[in-house]
Amino acid sequence: MTSPELPPLHRDLVFHGPLSDQRAAQLVHSLGPLAGRHVVDLGCGWAELLLRTLAAEPAATGFGIDLDEEDIRRARANAEGRGLADRVDLEVGDVGAWQGEPTDVVFNIGASHVWGGEPVTHTANALTALADLVRPGGKALLGECFWRRTPSEEEYAVMEGTRGQYRPLPELVDFALSHGFRLYSLSEATVAEWDVMENGVLRGREDWLLANPDAPGADAVRERADRMRRFRLHGARETIGFAYLTLLRA
Ligand SMILES: C[S@@+](CC[C@H](N)C(=O)[O-])C[C@H]1O[C@@H](n2cnc3c(N)ncnc32)[C@H](O)[C@@H]1O
Repeated sequence: MTSPELPPLHRDLVFHGPLSDQRAAQLVHSLGPLAGRHVVDLGCGWAELLLRTLAAEPAATGFGIDLDEEDIRRARANAEGRGLADRVDLEVGDVGAWQGEPTDVVFNIGASHVWGGEPVTHTANALTALADLVRPGGKALLGECFWRRTPSEEEYAVMEGTRGQYRPLPELVDFALSHGFRLYSLSEATVAEWDVMENGVLRGREDWLLANPDAPGADAVRERADRMRRFRLHGARETIGFAYLTLLRA
């Protein structure tokens, strides 16, 4: 641990999102057939789902890009360890500045913000980009939040900045289809999947605080942990869902 601002938040996480092994396998299945296909993951984090997709189909290739150097280091190490390094390029970079050709399969999971702009525009930006980046007959895998129900004013107050950002699930799907896709598969993360992710981050912060109670920055880490707990327990847990849409480019 070298920086008080960066406790090892993701040490315990397999996926950087609300995703189980079983759902991951179902998502990979929804993308097939994958032989000979190229899979691009935008805002890939440590690219766990991309690597599992490539492991499932030895004749597929991949590319992942993320701003976070540490995540890309982890992704490269995992690719190496699983014998996938010769079939995947993993790059540190800004998706907003990256230009790609239309390809077979494109992931954008929990990362609709990578094209920038105001939060209310994130889903639209992602769908517009995906429509350009997926070739006709190809597939996009969009992982995006939705409103399980409209938050109360009290819930909005703790989830600052989220008003107008998401849609109810039927509207999210309709919105995706209005960008030139057909719905191929839909699933929704369970609260248990969310809890695995949230608890992993929570443990990372709390263990670090226990080991570094007086370190410079400890107060900021503690304050952030408290803010995230309030966001989750007094707002998001009841109101924000996460959907995986496999979309067929018409
Ligand atoms: C919630 S994580 C999701 C990671 C991954 N898609 C997954 O599902 O495991 C969001 C990711 O977006 C990345 N990110 C944010 N802005 C970005 C940008 N402009 N370009 C590339 N990556 C970005 C973050 O570094 C982070 O890894």
